[in-house]
Amino acid sequence: MAIQRVAVVGAGTMGAGIAQLCLQRGFAVKIHDASSEALDSALERIKRGLDEAVLKTKLTTAAAERAFHSLAPAARMEDLYGADLLVEAVSEDLDLKRRLFERVSHICPDSILATNTSSLPVTRIAQAARSPERVLGMHFFNPPAAMRLVEMVRGPMTLPSVFQEAWDFVLMGLKKAPVDVEDTPGFIVNRVMRPYYLEAQRAALSGCGIAALDRAARDVGQVPMGPFELMDLIGLDVNLAITRGIYEAFGRPERFKPCPLQERLVREGFLGRKVNGGFYVYEGGKRTLENPRATEGLPSSGLDPAEAWERVIGAVISEAELAFKDKVASKADIDTAIKLAMNFPRGPFQWRSPAAKP
Ligand SMILES: NC(=O)c1ccc[n+]([C@@H]2O[C@H](COP(=O)([O-])OP(=O)(O)OC[C@H]3O[C@@H](n4cnc5c(N)ncnc54)[C@H](O)[C@@H]3O)[C@@H](O)[C@H]2O)c1
Repeated sequence: MAIQRVAVVGAGTMGAGIAQLCLQRGFAVKIHDASSEALDSALERIKRGLDEAVLKTKLTTAAAERAFHSLAPAARMEDLYGADLLVEAVSEDLDLKRRLFERVSHICPDSILATNTSSLPVTRIAQAARSPERVLGMHFFNPPAAMRLVEMVRGPMTLPSVFQEAWDFVLMGLKKAPVDVEDTPGFIVNRVMRPYYLEAQRAALSGCGIAALDRAARDVGQVPMGPFELMDLIGLDVNLAITRGIYEAFGRPERFKPCPLQERLVREGFLGRKVNGGFYVYEGGKRTLENPRATEGLPSSGLDPAEAWERVIGAVISEAELAFKDKVASKADIDTAIKLAMNFPRGPFQWRSPAAKP
C-alpha cells in the first residue's frame, strides 16, 4: 500500500522543512518535537513556508489552506501511531537517535522508519529498532521544499520492498530525485565534495589566492560558487565538523585531513557569513574583501588559479571514482547527486568527457 500518512519527529530546520514539503504534495502530516516551543515555532515556519509557496505561485491559496489543515502537531510521540512513514530529523547524535528508534519502533511497529541523518551510520541507528529491516536513510537537503536531491540510504538489513516503497514515495509522491546509496560515511555528496574544500585550501597554501580560485571556479568551472565562498555560506564550523567526521570514519587518510587554516579560523570565531567573517569579510550581508586573518601567512603568488581549479575538480573526480569503486552508488547516481546538491553544470563522471555538455 502506498504511503499516505507521514509522521515527522524533530521539528527543527529539517523536520519543519520536510513536513512542509509533504504537505505541499498533499500528504497528511503529524509532527512531534520533545520541545513544545520548537513545535510551536515549526508550525509558524511551516505556515510561512506555505504562504511563500503561494506567493511564488507554486500553490493556490486554497491548496495552501488545505495543506495547513492536514498538519497535526503531536504533543506525545504515542500520537504518531498509524503513520505509514515516519521521518526522524532530531539532532545529530547517535545515542539520541538510537533511543528514539527503539521507542518509536514500538509505537509505530508497522511504519517505515527513515532517518534524515547526514553523517551517522544508518545501520547503527536501525539496529536499535525493533524491526531494523523497516529502517532506511532518507537524506534531504536544506531547504527540502526547494532541493530536488534525496539520498536514499539502504543498510544491509533494509528490506528491498521497504526501500522500494520509500523510493516511490520520494520520486512520485514528493516529486524529488532520489539516488540509491549504500550506508557508507558521508554517503555521496558529503564524501565526494570533501576534496572541493580541502584541495582548495591546499591550493591557497601554494599561493593561488582565495578570491582568485573562487573566480576561476566560476569562470572556468562554470559552477555557481567557488570553494571558499561556499564554505563561508555553509559555515566553516559546520563544514569542518563534517570533514572531521569523514576523516575519522575512513581511518584518518591524508586526503580527508582537516586543513590547519580552516581549523585556526574556526578557533578564532571566523565561522563564515553568519558572523560576517570567514574566508571573506561581509558588510551588510555583502562580501567585501578577503579576510586578512585568512590570508595571513599565505604566499601571495605561486600557483595559477586556473591550474588550482583543475586540481580541485580533479580531486573531486578522483573521490567520485573511489566512491564508485567502493560501490557507494552508480556513476549515474553520483553524477545526479553532485549536480543537484551543488547546482554544478555536470557531474564528476561527465567533467572530463569531451562529449559532455553542461
Ligand atoms: N540543517 C541541515 O542543513 C541538514 C541537512 C540535512 C540533514 N540534516 C540532519 O537533519 C537532522 C536535524 O537537523 P536540523 O538542522 O533540523 O536540527 P535542529 O537542531 O534544527 O532540530 C533538531 C530538533 O530535534 C528536536 N529533538 C531533539 N531531541 C528530540 C527527541 N528526543 N524527540 C523529539 N525531538 C527532539 C530538537 O528539539 C530540535 O527541534 C540531523 O540529523 C542533521 O544532521 C541537517
